[in-house]
Amino acid sequence: MIRPLRLGIAGLGTVGTGVVNIIRNHAGMLQLRGTCPVGISAVSARSKSRNRGVDLSGTAWEDDPVALATRDDVDVFVELMGGADGPALAATKAALAAGKHVVTANKAMLAHHGQTLAEAAESASVNLRFEAAVAGGIPVIKVLAEGLVGNRITRIMGVMNGTCNYILTRMETAGLPYEEAFAEAGALGFLEADPNLDVGGIDAAHKLVLLAAVGFGTRVDFASAELQGIGTISIEDIETAAELGYRIKLLGVAAMGDAGLEQTMMPALVPCNSPLGRLEGGTNMVVIEGDSVGQVVLRGAGAGQGPTASAVVGDVMDIARGIRLPVFGQAAASLVKAEPARSSARSAWYIRLALRDRAGTLARLAGALSEAGVSIDRLRQKAHANDSAPVVIVTHPARRTRIDAVLEAISATGDATTPPIALRIVEM
Ligand code: HSE
Repeated sequence: MIRPLRLGIAGLGTVGTGVVNIIRNHAGMLQLRGTCPVGISAVSARSKSRNRGVDLSGTAWEDDPVALATRDDVDVFVELMGGADGPALAATKAALAAGKHVVTANKAMLAHHGQTLAEAAESASVNLRFEAAVAGGIPVIKVLAEGLVGNRITRIMGVMNGTCNYILTRMETAGLPYEEAFAEAGALGFLEADPNLDVGGIDAAHKLVLLAAVGFGTRVDFASAELQGIGTISIEDIETAAELGYRIKLLGVAAMGDAGLEQTMMPALVPCNSPLGRLEGGTNMVVIEGDSVGQVVLRGAGAGQGPTASAVVGDVMDIARGIRLPVFGQAAASLVKAEPARSSARSAWYIRLALRDRAGTLARLAGALSEAGVSIDRLRQKAHANDSAPVVIVTHPARRTRIDAVLEAISATGDATTPPIALRIVEM
């Protein structure tokens, strides 16, 4: 008789019940594809009595996820509890130490402890898989680590927080101010328990640093990622960007240059007619560029029960097929610690300023740009509000350091009534 692959699932929220449903509803198909049956030995969650709409009567229950992770009848510990530390980390470490494979959707845990956990998995000769942690249902880790393994990856970009993309889309299409679009996302249940994880760019940056590790062979380094959330984006920015032919997205960019590894998660302007510019609502998109393949664009649901469970089951099935891969695409010990770098690539920039309406202000602004060697492509001043004149500049391609110098110089003049913002214009 063929031995089944036995799962222990910790966390029975939306994703956990989705995994139970797929394993149950597609049992025959999965057996054919994986060459052995896949079963669920035991589960664990915060509340045993809660009705989750799935029948768990024939499945063992553990209150303690560490106990679940180390059970003799568990081959694969499926960690769907979430949280960077606490029970998720304790149970994952326990599972690896006990020689169990681990499949997780936990981006925060891996962004903070990825290297240690990868080393533990590889020294135990087991899999630690995390497809569901990055861009939900999009099989991006598989594409990067397997399909594109023959490429030197040059750049990875992505819109990987559906909630932010929903908010920005609603601001644009319904003309809602940020606060109203944020409240709407909350009412629809899109926001994380700590909304700053979404709108502060943290959740998306967790995903980006995992992709960077796989793409560039580097140790996961969340602390060096540069983050800026979407809270400073006004409806006027969105309207002005549209007039200029762009849309604003919370865009992650990871690139390896001579100075080191850039990992930025910041609002940026992308051309309206580009794949990223056409991305609506809660959908995710990841763009990967490799030296042989060119550009690959992946688009799909970044969250939700079906898509995230689909990614979890994809990882489980690799294990059922007997496939074992290094956690981040190459041996953990060979991952290098990259020097963190700010973007060295030249790009056009959108600079939005609110300037005091007095003589000489624009001349000083032009002086600051000239001093920094930044050339203006387009400049417009809109109708005044009180004593403050909204000015938007689009620059010719310039390095980030020069734009920083411009912003500093403007701040020093005292001409700005609110802090200026500069958003990169990313062509693709
Ligand atoms: N909160 C995330 C999003 C999903 O809005 O995309 C989980 O990472």
